[in-house]
Amino acid sequence: MIVLVGFMGGGKTTVGRLLATRLGLPFVDTDDVITTRDGRTVPEIFAADGETAFRDHEEAVIAEVLAGPESVVSLGGGACGRVGTRERLAGHDVVHLRASFAETQRRIGGDPGRPMLARPDLAEIYTARQEVYASVAGRVLDTDGRSAAEIAEFLL
Ligand code: S3P
Repeated sequence: MIVLVGFMGGGKTTVGRLLATRLGLPFVDTDDVITTRDGRTVPEIFAADGETAFRDHEEAVIAEVLAGPESVVSLGGGACGRVGTRERLAGHDVVHLRASFAETQRRIGGDPGRPMLARPDLAEIYTARQEVYASVAGRVLDTDGRSAAEIAEFLL
């Protein structure tokens, strides 16, 4: 599997789609799997059930996807916080799509579809997660100033 990880706004979904098309592989966005199965949006799940319930569902979906057919997979920005997910990523081609905090804010700031953006400690979460992404990724790509097409090309 090629697995794209990184903070919200790093381009995982856009790049993942392009890359999957170029490679002739299916593209799986784990947030889409969760919301399709659940029938609610991510903010609805966070509001009604809480973040932990979302993370439980997310971890289970990722385990299933990683055990499935070869694909390009995009993980939600918080998914690698789970040790089980980090362990399951071993042996896969994990790519960290890295963007500066300022760039992520520019791309997705204020998006109501992303409940984590409302967290007052968002900058600290961003910083803490960089180490987590680095610990699972075999490749890292800086995305500031690069188009999704350029990034996908680079990853081929
Ligand atoms: C989250 C990122 C989102 C989604 C959820 C939580 C996070 O995915 O899983 O809103 O904790 O960073 P994207 O990284 O695709 O926006």
